[in-house]
Amino acid sequence: MDPMLTIAIRAARAAGEVITRSLGRVDPRKITVKSRNDFVSEVDRQAESEIIYVLQKAFPGHGILAEETGRQGTRREEYVWVIDPLDGTTNFLHGFPQFAVSIGLMYRGVPEAAVIYDPLRQELFTAKRGSGAMLENRRIRVTAQTTLHGALLGTGFPFKDQRYIDAYLAMLKDLIRDTAGIRRAGSAALDLAYVAAGRLDGFWEMGLQPWDMAAGVLMIREAGGIVTDLVGGDRAMETGHVLTANPKLHQAMRDIIAPHLTEALRGEMA
Ligand code: IPD
Ligand code: CA
Ligand code: CA
Repeated sequence: MDPMLTIAIRAARAAGEVITRSLGRVDPRKITVKSRNDFVSEVDRQAESEIIYVLQKAFPGHGILAEETGRQGTRREEYVWVIDPLDGTTNFLHGFPQFAVSIGLMYRGVPEAAVIYDPLRQELFTAKRGSGAMLENRRIRVTAQTTLHGALLGTGFPFKDQRYIDAYLAMLKDLIRDTAGIRRAGSAALDLAYVAAGRLDGFWEMGLQPWDMAAGVLMIREAGGIVTDLVGGDRAMETGHVLTANPKLHQAMRDIIAPHLTEALRGEMA
């Protein structure tokens, strides 16, 4: 096993323990609203500090970009860990059992290793650049679905930044009409892992953050899928607008989404 993955797995499991231990026991007075519909609890912070502790002990020269504490390091590090300690905080706070720990490692800005851990099901998804993606010890692949007809897609609603809502609803309407179903499960990191594992045929969302995606992007690519922004370009990580599926279905989703992109949205991805 790759030493960096080994340490990332250790960090993800440590965070997973913090999360499962605290499920149903969060002190509501310690929940903070970061911005509209964006909550953080002491559990997010504790899980994040566990992860950072494990990673920094093993790799003191690496940089960190973590959701709750931001950037650490000199900004000149070749390796940077991109961390979402608890993806699906709203689910977690409501006891809705769908959330995960997401840890991605970038090398000179390119995804190098990925861990997504579902602490309730104890499912561990991993990927290493050039070595494929795994669920536990099994190699995973994106689906072979070639048409939207019969496809199951995942998505996330633009519930924080409501500038996107009309464009989003128009895409959703067309995709509901043309597919077998759409799921909004509430953890983008797990949604991406599920695309890699062939549990979803594709996924799209607008306005994600790098820590939601850093691990999932590599996982899907290593599982044979395509990850782009909504216009098919390479700005998904910068813009947070992501479209992913197997190679055939990706084009079909893009064709449905394209007519609904506003000038402003296109501008963000240009
Ligand atoms: C959120 C989840 C959700 C997605 C949001 C994310 P958080 O992450 O991934 O599925 O729709 O855009 O912000 O805040 O729970 O870490
Ligand atoms: Ca997140
Ligand atoms: Ca989070």
